[in-house]
Amino acid sequence: MQNFFSSRRRFLSGAAACIFAPAFSFSARADAPMELTAGNSAHALRGKNAPPVPLWTFNGASPGPLLRAKRGETLRVRLVNKMDAAATTIHWHGVRVDNAMDGVSGVTQSAVPPGEFFDYEVALPDSGAFWYHSHNQSWEQVARGLYGPLVVDDPDDPPVDRDLVLMIDDWKLSRDGGLDEESFGHMGEWSHGGRLGNWLTVNSAPEPTYAVPAGGRIRLRLMNPANARIFRLSLPPEMQAQIVALDGMPVAPYDFPAGGFELAPAQRADVVSDLPKAPGEHALKALFSRGQSAVAAKFNAVASDEKLTEKSAWPSPPKLALPSRENAARAVVHMMGGAMGGMRGAMMGGKMHSMRELAGRRKLWAFNSEVGGHDLELLRLRPGQTGILRVENDTAWPHAMHLHGHHFIPTPIGGGGDLALRDTHLLERGESSEYVFAGGKPGKWLFHCHMLEHMAAGMAGVVIVES
Ligand code: C2O
Ligand code: CU
Repeated sequence: MQNFFSSRRRFLSGAAACIFAPAFSFSARADAPMELTAGNSAHALRGKNAPPVPLWTFNGASPGPLLRAKRGETLRVRLVNKMDAAATTIHWHGVRVDNAMDGVSGVTQSAVPPGEFFDYEVALPDSGAFWYHSHNQSWEQVARGLYGPLVVDDPDDPPVDRDLVLMIDDWKLSRDGGLDEESFGHMGEWSHGGRLGNWLTVNSAPEPTYAVPAGGRIRLRLMNPANARIFRLSLPPEMQAQIVALDGMPVAPYDFPAGGFELAPAQRADVVSDLPKAPGEHALKALFSRGQSAVAAKFNAVASDEKLTEKSAWPSPPKLALPSRENAARAVVHMMGGAMGGMRGAMMGGKMHSMRELAGRRKLWAFNSEVGGHDLELLRLRPGQTGILRVENDTAWPHAMHLHGHHFIPTPIGGGGDLALRDTHLLERGESSEYVFAGGKPGKWLFHCHMLEHMAAGMAGVVIVES
């Protein structure tokens, strides 16, 4: 196996410039949709001096183009599938879309085959940092590069000198430097922590450097599109970094934890940093589970004579109130299975199966003793009604639980902790939490683990909002 940390040095030659394909801006009146074309293309994942790696991409790049709009606008996007063989969709992660636009193959649409297209109309009720990704065979398609960022601007946010999107990913490369394709679908990964990579990139470049103005205020949109990796991120104290939003939703600003900040798959964190006046380099580091720390990206603060923004304290949002629990629709989601989980068997297709039989069908995880999927109904509620999912992680693994079309408030059993609206919540092993939310738009909304192998192997169900 290629070594993550030693081999990468060879490919680094000075500062890698790393930029997205040009950002697309939308106007509510634009009637022509923009196109996101899914295709097969090669990408300089390992830096400019190494052979490019064949990926599946949107508009020829991974991440795909930065989609940028203002709150209240509507995105009109035509997904055109020009891939050789794979059918695909686009899911707008974290956006409270109409159910028909949610992009889940087999639930809200069928996957778009090569040569065909699908028109998405995505109204944007919330500002914040979101992302889009394939939701068909996503354990493979996201790992091959079918994802990109979506930023919805809030006209009331204070200005900053730079607003940077950083999609932090770990790719699994094989010895020859290409994507490790043989391990796709590997049962060991599916039953353990999911597909973990060995090649760290930010915006698909190894250790990119971003030029920023010394003394300026920068906003970082940290996003984790990895299949399964929980990144523990750190920023140096001189950056005076504060977390101002989680999963796109504003929180009362707090200092970026000195011991690092965990970003689970699919989660986002907005960070505002006031850079020191002296020019210098600052590094974003990522610490991995095995205790090795690596530079993910660098910020090169250079002296400039541009006029910098005023730095007043970043505003706090109004205090979050939990929705009333009276007349709430409730369900318990007992998460089971996986390696070292002790699950003997589970229901599937109305029948009890042994663990062995289940593994033969690539199913390894269950909710409430039933192998999950698109048909497992977990909860039913009306729009506006309070929903409470009591999730109990009775497995030996952490899970990044995601509810489509809603933002929920994870509340630890027994209280405590700061309340925040999330669309993806990391539930440690042995941990329980109540996810409290208000029923949103009518439809079938997926609730699943965003460790994409776990979702495919049974950790999924639906919440139904009645019309
Ligand atoms: Cu980001 Cu169901 O996914
Ligand atoms: Cu999981």
